Amino acid sequence: MAITVQPITPTFAAEVGDVALDRPLAAEDLAAIRAAFTRYAVLVFPDQSFDDDSQLAFARHFGSLETTVFKARKDHKLRLHENLADVGNLGADNRILETNDRQRLYNLGNRLWHTDSSFKHLPAYCSMLHARSIPPIGGQTEFADLRAAYDALPEATKRRIAGMVAEHSIMTSRAKLGFTDFSGDERAAFKPVPQVLVRRLQDSGRMSLYIASHAGAIRGMADAEARRLLDELVAHATQRQFVYGHRWRVGDLVIWDNRCTMHRGMDFDDQRYARDMRRATVSDVAPTCEQMGLAVAAE
Ligand code: OGA
Ligand code: MN
Repeated sequence: MAITVQPITPTFAAEVGDVALDRPLAAEDLAAIRAAFTRYAVLVFPDQSFDDDSQLAFARHFGSLETTVFKARKDHKLRLHENLADVGNLGADNRILETNDRQRLYNLGNRLWHTDSSFKHLPAYCSMLHARSIPPIGGQTEFADLRAAYDALPEATKRRIAGMVAEHSIMTSRAKLGFTDFSGDERAAFKPVPQVLVRRLQDSGRMSLYIASHAGAIRGMADAEARRLLDELVAHATQRQFVYGHRWRVGDLVIWDNRCTMHRGMDFDDQRYARDMRRATVSDVAPTCEQMGLAVAAE
C-alpha cells in the first residue's frame, strides 16, 4: 500500500500515513516522503514505534547527523545516544529535571522562536522529533513558515534585506533568558557564525527568510538597528497565518525543514509531567553564505 499525504494546511504542513518508518523503507516511499517534504516544510508521521537506533537509521536517509550540543560540556552525563538531542525534561536517571537544573534552564531556550543549529557554520537541514511520552496538557510545538513570510514581505523590504548576513550564536538566545553560565569550551564552540538573512532553497527554488532568536547582529549594521530589524522580521514571520501548532500524540514523529521554518516549544507543567522527546538532526549540505554564493570574511 502506497503512503498517503494529507495536507494539514494548504502549503506548509502535511500528515503522512500508511508507512512504518522503523523498518527498511521502499525506495518509492522514501522518494514520496522527500517530495512531500520539499513541498511542505513540516511533516507529521503518526504512530511510529521507534527505538533510538531505528529513529537514527531513518534520519540517515536525509544526510549526515549532528551531535548533541551537550557533548561540549565535560560535566554533563548524556541520557541518550550522542546523535540524539534530548529536548524533554528528563535527566540521565530518567527522573524529571529540577527547576534549577542546568539542562532544564538551557532547554528553556527552545521556548523562543528559533531554527535548529543556525549557530553552527554548517547548520541543520532537518530535525526529526519523536514523542516517547507527553504531558496531558500543554507542551505543543509551533512552527512558522519562513517561505510564506518572505513572500508576504513588501518588495522594498525584500530589496533592503537581500544579501544581508546575520551573526548567530546559541549564547545570544540563551542570554535573552538571562542564561550566561557557559564554560570556556562552550564559549569557544559557540562563537557567532555568519548566516544569510535570505536564502533560496536549492530543491524547491523558493525564497525564504533565515532568522532565529540565535541571531543578534547583522554585518555592517549598528547593533541597535540590527536587533530592531531582526525583532521585526521575527514578529512578521510568526503572525497567525504563517504558524502551524502541533499538539503531540505519543508516537508522533514530526520532521521540519530548518532552512525555512522556525519553531518553539510551548509551556507545560514540567515539574509534574514527564515529556520525553528525542530529536535526530540532519546537517545541511553547505554553510548558507556558500550556498548563496556570498564570500564572507571570518571574524
Ligand atoms: C527541538 C525543539 C521544541 C519542543 O526539538 O528542536 O526546539 O516543543 N523542540 O520540544
Ligand atoms: Mn529546536
